[in-house]
Amino acid sequence: MRPRLRARVAGVGACLPAQVLTNDELAERYRLDTSDAWIRERTGIRRRHLAAPGETTADLAEAAAREALARAGLAPSEIDLVLLATSTPDHTFPATATRIQRRLGIPPSPAFDLQAVCAGFVYALTVADSLIRTGLARRALVIGAETFSRLLDWGDRSTCVLFGDGAGALVLVADEQTGTVLDRGILAATLRADGRHYEQLYVDGGPSSSGTVGHLRMNGREVFRQAVVAMSESAREACARIGLPPAEMDWFVPHQANVRIIEAVAKRLEIPRTRVAVTVDRHANTSAASIPLALDVLVTEGRLEPGQLVLLSGIGGGFAWGSVVLRW
Ligand code: UT7
Repeated sequence: MRPRLRARVAGVGACLPAQVLTNDELAERYRLDTSDAWIRERTGIRRRHLAAPGETTADLAEAAAREALARAGLAPSEIDLVLLATSTPDHTFPATATRIQRRLGIPPSPAFDLQAVCAGFVYALTVADSLIRTGLARRALVIGAETFSRLLDWGDRSTCVLFGDGAGALVLVADEQTGTVLDRGILAATLRADGRHYEQLYVDGGPSSSGTVGHLRMNGREVFRQAVVAMSESAREACARIGLPPAEMDWFVPHQANVRIIEAVAKRLEIPRTRVAVTVDRHANTSAASIPLALDVLVTEGRLEPGQLVLLSGIGGGFAWGSVVLRW
């Protein structure tokens, strides 16, 4: 095998807003015709964190990034790429990534936002990996951060109970390794989108259409059905690229939208429940932040160890979806 540049994970960080709302508190605050029992049984969600008034995506992203940098033992001056996956930027432009870059004091370098909704983090990791492997970046900050509470219609019980706010970040560093599946770092990825499903999950506003921010609209049943099939297929495809079945993965860290989706995908992939990260109960669906938040929980609880194989898989509006296999 020829030596090969790999994007290796050097640190992970997270930030959740201080305000926590249980299902009962949410129902009471917004006078919703729902119940804790319905939300738990149909989604697995028990509570969510919500940003305070004035608290923005950049605030959450900055805190997660600082923690990831500290864990990686790197200074902001050593970072040469900032990639933020978000659908809830602070402003329509410039990229919220540039705001984070300025606040952290990262020298001039590429900094941009990437919008693939709940698949945003797997898209961002794949792009960062490509930039690192082509030599365009050596130390990247890849962040998933959202304030989805700002997009919710609080009168629509079928959507507003499902989402939460938060941020997670990874530091990736270029590392020359052997070129085998024993290498640490990103080993394989697959990305897809299919715009025929545009209206199944979207926000009914935007700068070029309504001139407003808009609210999230979703055909939940159809999204559920497609999510199970697309995530399973993409996870299998990513694993096949390194010649291993999904069942060989030490951890499956899927996008956290609904515990029933997660369980259905894990079953199809024959990955036992003990190797599946589930955080949707405490974070709800935080879109692009859900995968790095789940990784942070695994690391903080001492369950994810260096050298373990991790399969990440996400799907969201578009539909856009994808999977990444990496060795931690
Ligand atoms: O990040 C990716 C994007 N999101 C997702 O992946 C979400 C995918 N979809 C889902 O997770 C599920 O489809 C939902 C959780 C959204 C809904 O669960 P479901 O089992 O598919 O329920 P349903 O849509 O079939 O609705 C069942 C019933 C309906 O009443 P009727 O028509 O049977 O009388 C809804 O009106 O549940 C009702 N319902 C609720 N009842 C109490 C919908 N939302 C609520 C609620 N509380 N919050």
